Amino acid sequence: MSTNSTPTATSRRSFLKASTLAASAIALRGSSLLAQTTAHTDATIDLFPAEPIGTISPEIYSHFIEHLGGVIYDGVWVGEGSKIPNQNGIRTAFIDAMRAVQAPVLRWPGGCFADSYDWRDGIGNRDKRPARSGFWDQQDNNQYGLHEFMRTCRAIGCKPYLAANLRTLPARDFYQEIEYCNAPAGDVPSNSAAKAAPNSLAALRAANGDRAPFNVDLWGVGNESWGCGGNLTPEEYAAMFRRYTAWTPSYGKDPLRFVAVGPNGDDVDWTTRLFKSLYGNPERRHLWGLSIHYYTSGSPSQFAAGDALKFNSDDYYDLLTRGSIMERVVNDHWHAMGNTPGQPQVKLVVDEWGAWYGKGTELAPNYNLSQQSTMRDALLTGITLDIFQRHADKVAVANVAQSINCIHSLMLAQEDNFTVTPTFHVFQMYLPHRGAQAIRAEFTAPTIENPLANAPIPVGGNSYIGSLEAVKTLAGLSGSASIATTGNGKILTLTVVNPHLDRPITSDIGIRGASISSARATVLASNDVHDHNDFAHPNAVKPAPATTEQPSGGRLIHTFPAASVTTLQISIG
Ligand code: AHR
Repeated sequence: MSTNSTPTATSRRSFLKASTLAASAIALRGSSLLAQTTAHTDATIDLFPAEPIGTISPEIYSHFIEHLGGVIYDGVWVGEGSKIPNQNGIRTAFIDAMRAVQAPVLRWPGGCFADSYDWRDGIGNRDKRPARSGFWDQQDNNQYGLHEFMRTCRAIGCKPYLAANLRTLPARDFYQEIEYCNAPAGDVPSNSAAKAAPNSLAALRAANGDRAPFNVDLWGVGNESWGCGGNLTPEEYAAMFRRYTAWTPSYGKDPLRFVAVGPNGDDVDWTTRLFKSLYGNPERRHLWGLSIHYYTSGSPSQFAAGDALKFNSDDYYDLLTRGSIMERVVNDHWHAMGNTPGQPQVKLVVDEWGAWYGKGTELAPNYNLSQQSTMRDALLTGITLDIFQRHADKVAVANVAQSINCIHSLMLAQEDNFTVTPTFHVFQMYLPHRGAQAIRAEFTAPTIENPLANAPIPVGGNSYIGSLEAVKTLAGLSGSASIATTGNGKILTLTVVNPHLDRPITSDIGIRGASISSARATVLASNDVHDHNDFAHPNAVKPAPATTEQPSGGRLIHTFPAASVTTLQISIG
């Protein structure tokens, strides 16, 4: 049974009364290592420090900004003359928030926009730059281009990741974009003929304000080439990928990291055929990563395409269940890529991820694809980052879509208004995992049946959103663990999502072969999963310290509040 209530203004209690409690099917999964659990616990978490998975790449907490709606113009770029606080035209609040989450990589200029974009339009004197019609039916006056983007990355302290245009620019432009970004200015290579002159594209870059090379090493070779990037087959795309990347200059540095366009959602056929075609010619040394785009949308029981703010408990559980399919997407494509002897293992680059809702909560009509972000989205963030951490051996880069004013944002901005979202806080809470060693973690907790498992796929929007069959169950507690050696000894970080709307889960946490000397917890929870931050209430949702029971030996009891994300930092011996 589902209800038609729109519980945005109700308390969790009345929300729950009015809706099906989907957590009706309770089953204990797996078996616990813990010989005894105290009477009042209803879950166990077993941690295995001796079973490392891999180093968690700091680049899985990366970002994406596109010329779309209010992302670049207003969100990031306010212009040098603006009354909005800025650094060289870049919104200061955006820089500060990106620094606060230690953003490692920023992808630009798209998305679909990238395959309509000519990088030459965005360089040189801003007054003379052409206005163009971009992919999203938006006139772009090119005030924000390559140099402004590089300045943004420098201000944040992150690496640039450029998505190159494959659909409307020839291979020559890709080659020259690399040259413009990375060729040293003024140098004449020592082995060049006597008449060789300094590189003219590097000289142009220097004339445009940046003598030092940008040293961009991460390049997306097209975007969604199965769709907006050209409607190509995997075989057609493989041929283009090989031609565009067959030889590119590296200026004595490490080879560039080229990312090939991956599937539409969980389309394993794309990946299988792409790799078969790429291997058709074994000379593929430039292939470093395969991109995955996976957005989550529910199968809404009542709101067309889903709504960021209006949802009932069925919609809530359905969205989180579909989001957790990310784990299957990662596994499926990792296996489809295979591992060819003599070739480096290609990494997964989850280029775009997040919850994507229908219209209704955008900041203004021209802020295309902007939407509010609630506690529900914070839980999806935790579930997703935990999946990447659990698959530290496979996922090398992941970019949330998008950092500001679009889809699953960490920030919302409109003119001089600014707020961070609950998702921002989860990114901060997960920082201790960066660069740490992921270890195996087993969760045993009451599972939740997805009440909308058999509901029809939403109509409209992007064809691939929600196009995967729904999984039936959502883990009643999920998370990941990692160990880092710090000046204060070994710290085990455990992040946990409790998706139960009504049910705090008290868990017995055991660490195999280690003793716990102390533990501290931070929790993000709220009275109502519809809670969110807005310009008038920027601190409505924010994390707080939480108490844990005294650890004893290698065990700890902790209660995870209903609908919460928790970080536990445990000092171990
Ligand atoms: O992030 C919005 C859009 O979603 C991107 O432009 C595209 O790559 C995807 O379809």
